[in-house]
Amino acid sequence: MNPPQFHFFILFFLFLLPNHHHHLVSAIDILTPGTPLTKDQTLISLGGNFELGFFNPGNSNSWYIGIWYKRILPVRTIVWVANRDHPLTNSSGLLKIGELGNLLLLDEDSGTPVWSSNQTKDSNTVAQLLDNGNFVVRHQDDADSADFLWQSFDYPTDTLLPGMKLGWDSKTGLNRNLTSWKTANDPSSGDYSFVLDTSGFPEIFLTDKGIRIYRSGPWNGLRFSGVPEMKATGPVIDFTFVTSKDEVYYSFDMRNNSVYSRLVVNYTGFLQRFTWIEDSGVWNLYWYARKDQCDFYKECGYYGICDTNASPVCKCMTGFEPRNPQAWYLRDGSDGCKRKHGLECGSDGFLTLNNMKLPESSTAFLDSSMSLSDCEKMCRGNCSCTAYANSDIAGSGSGCAIWTVDLLDLRQYAAAEGGQNLYIRLAASDIDQTSNVGSGTDSNGNAKRIIMIVGIVVGCAVVLSLVTIWLVHRRIKSQREKRSAINYKGPREKSQDLLLKAPVTLSKREYSGESTTEEFELPLFDFSTIALATDNFSQANKLGQGGFGSVYKGTLVEGQDIAVKRLSKTSGQGVEEFKNEVRLIAKLQHRNLVRLLGCCVDAEEKMLIYEYMENKSLDSILFNQEKSSLLNWQSRFNIICGIARGLLYMHQDSRFRIIHRDLKASNILLDKEMIPKISDFGMARIFGGDETEASTRRVVGTYGYMSPEYAMDGIFSVKSDVFSFGVLVLEIVSGKKNRGFYHVNNQLNLLSYAWKLWREGRGLELLDSTAGEKFDSYEVMRCIQVGLLCVQEHAEDRPDMANVVLLLRCESAPVPNPKHPGFILGRRPDHTSSSSSKQDESFTVNQVTVTIMDGR
Ligand SMILES: *[C@@H]1O[C@H](CO)[C@@H](O)[C@H](O)[C@H]1NC(C)=O
Ligand SMILES: *[C@@H]1O[C@H](CO)[C@@H](O)[C@H](O)[C@H]1NC(C)=O
Ligand SMILES: *[C@@H]1O[C@H](CO)[C@@H](O)[C@H](O)[C@H]1NC(C)=O
Ligand SMILES: *[C@@H]1O[C@H](CO)[C@@H](O)[C@H](O)[C@H]1NC(C)=O
Ligand SMILES: *[C@@H]1O[C@H](CO)[C@@H](O)[C@H](O)[C@H]1NC(C)=O
Ligand SMILES: *[C@@H]1O[C@H](CO)[C@@H](O)[C@H](O)[C@H]1NC(C)=O
Repeated sequence: MNPPQFHFFILFFLFLLPNHHHHLVSAIDILTPGTPLTKDQTLISLGGNFELGFFNPGNSNSWYIGIWYKRILPVRTIVWVANRDHPLTNSSGLLKIGELGNLLLLDEDSGTPVWSSNQTKDSNTVAQLLDNGNFVVRHQDDADSADFLWQSFDYPTDTLLPGMKLGWDSKTGLNRNLTSWKTANDPSSGDYSFVLDTSGFPEIFLTDKGIRIYRSGPWNGLRFSGVPEMKATGPVIDFTFVTSKDEVYYSFDMRNNSVYSRLVVNYTGFLQRFTWIEDSGVWNLYWYARKDQCDFYKECGYYGICDTNASPVCKCMTGFEPRNPQAWYLRDGSDGCKRKHGLECGSDGFLTLNNMKLPESSTAFLDSSMSLSDCEKMCRGNCSCTAYANSDIAGSGSGCAIWTVDLLDLRQYAAAEGGQNLYIRLAASDIDQTSNVGSGTDSNGNAKRIIMIVGIVVGCAVVLSLVTIWLVHRRIKSQREKRSAINYKGPREKSQDLLLKAPVTLSKREYSGESTTEEFELPLFDFSTIALATDNFSQANKLGQGGFGSVYKGTLVEGQDIAVKRLSKTSGQGVEEFKNEVRLIAKLQHRNLVRLLGCCVDAEEKMLIYEYMENKSLDSILFNQEKSSLLNWQSRFNIICGIARGLLYMHQDSRFRIIHRDLKASNILLDKEMIPKISDFGMARIFGGDETEASTRRVVGTYGYMSPEYAMDGIFSVKSDVFSFGVLVLEIVSGKKNRGFYHVNNQLNLLSYAWKLWREGRGLELLDSTAGEKFDSYEVMRCIQVGLLCVQEHAEDRPDMANVVLLLRCESAPVPNPKHPGFILGRRPDHTSSSSSKQDESFTVNQVTVTIMDGR
């Protein structure tokens, strides 16, 4: 028997922390067999941090037992739910210690158990809510944490609290994971889970209905390989990852226990870490993932490397080529890359890739005591080894991880961001091709920014008959002689400039100029001319390399600088097709578009020749602290207008309306007079032959510049370019990059920040301090306003480029008020939930803005 009279209520009298009013609170933190918890009662942990009780989210009829922060009011932040999948639908419930000593949640009316803890039998138990948020069942006389019979920390819902372990425990056999709520007001198990995979080199996956969508990367001693911004020991949070034969888990602890932090899998499939800001009374979004395109699991397939600073983001490393060139050139990298030459085992070499996120590692071999040189030996000695790396990068690095499968989900970071060296096995013949191993891939991201690239799909291997070659060569010769005489600034460009000054209502015919254009000859360059100009494609002249091929700087005999894009040989496009495409782009002549000077076809080689841009790309100056002062307000304004004109030309040219689809700072090149030139503009047209105007099966482009309808639904139109243009304008004004822009306390992206300032009449504060003292504040405000008009959520609200040009230039034109911008990935999925609750307000800044707007 178990006489209840021996159990006592334990009352705790405690003072809340000094910054609260001193008042006496009586609280119970223990549940004993004789004293069930009813709907109107709660348990409060000893230090007053957490409270446990019944709650009904959104005032629904479903009742749950949950734990929330005691001090965070009035909106409860629920951190744990007992019966998430078994709500009490009838209002009266009872939580008690059952006869077996376990926790029982009963429907009071029917007396049926709705939920129970499931632990080994021990009849003299109590349940206690600890001050770290752990609700434990223990023997009444034994408070030792090692002896807990059951604990809520072993059954997380969607939230990881300090001290909680995410991962596997051999004793309980549990692999503790986080699983999102179904919706904001429904705590039942949702689609998204954050689950540790203990096999190989352990790492954590975010899954959507069991399908992996994001990967943390294995723990490299300092942080997760895929979370470069993380530090194992920080000023606020210490992260731990433990791998032993009994346990594999991830957890974190707060340096200061009175600071609250929690990691959540939200119901829209993102990981979010919040910290509570006492002074402002808000949950601050401290970190989140998935952030960008490269965070999508397998974005670039096997052996493809994802790099958000490159465009397109997927590239093949040295010695590899796209497995499915057609899809690759349409910027669907998911088929990945394949080796150019098969491995031969004995004679193979290794390619060093730096700043890498380690590949998927569930089958990796791990030995934390081996040195890197032993690791290399082991890899070399095992013919199925495809790569190796240090398993721990702390200090000078130690340990060994070896992959014996095709490498998946690789990602490269910018040098400053982090990542580590990864050594890839390559056939000797592929290693030999690059005297400077690895440099090709390293400089790749920069290359994209440096060079004017109109990416052109290239067909491969159409061998011309001898006769054709002979004819082509004859033609090249005559072209070369004539080339300097070809006048690119023909009547077309002049009429274009006229158009821009004229009202937008001009009929197409007036500015098309198409009918009057003389037969346009495509300048063909001789292979030997190009080889000479680039010093035989020397490594020194190489500006970079990407999925489409390599780019070289060159100087023609006449002294003109050129950029030569040597396209890789793997496309199915024929020579005539290629020439037609090039001819088409070459016809796009505008002061603000990078000029294609010609092309070169030689056997299997295809090359594009562009004018060379002295000042490289806009982002290399604008986002560079040392250089941004080169751009005073006047030149920034000129750049904005230049881009607008270039884009207007692309959008409204009568014969082929070109939607850029990847407009961004790195695709704007600057000549020596800082005149902006849009590059990469042939991409959409050339690659998108089989795509419709309305949608694409796969979204290409760069997050941060993508309109909501394009990013989310794949719908693109001239208005998605207008959106990107708007982002660009705000970046040029502020000198801040949209992706990864943080404002001191509140984490706002550039668009919401600009919007906030503008709405509060503080628009001028957006202006980059390096833009100088001299500026026309009307002009600045007008640019911000036009920028905001362009990034409005709904495409139909955005102006077209003709209007943009007009709005930017004419001071007297009345400028309409922008509506709410669409923040990338922040668009509310559901417009009906506009009366968002207070709880939502504390989540993200975006939603605060939304709420304010709806209140208007
Ligand atoms: C709720 O109560 C009704 C009757 O009052 C009963 O029929 C029903 O089974 C109860 N539901 C649950 C989930 O206990
Ligand atoms: C409790 O555990 C037993 C066996 O260990 C299992 O059969 C039963 O389904 C579990 N009940 C719950 C509610 O998890
Ligand atoms: C997560 O853990 C729960 C038990 O808490 C388990 O039922 C579920 O299957 C786990 N999910 C995954 C994806 O492993
Ligand atoms: C811990 O945080 C609290 C609240 O922010 C602060 O008052 C206290 O001084 C901090 N303690 C230490 C040791 O930093
Ligand atoms: C989930 O997290 C992401 C990333 O922080 C955020 O954009 C999104 O709005 C969140 N979803 C909800 C419903 O809060
Ligand atoms: C190569 O490595 C794999 C994976 O560790 C292992 O299964 C295989 O036995 C090794 N082969 C040799 C020849 O060592």
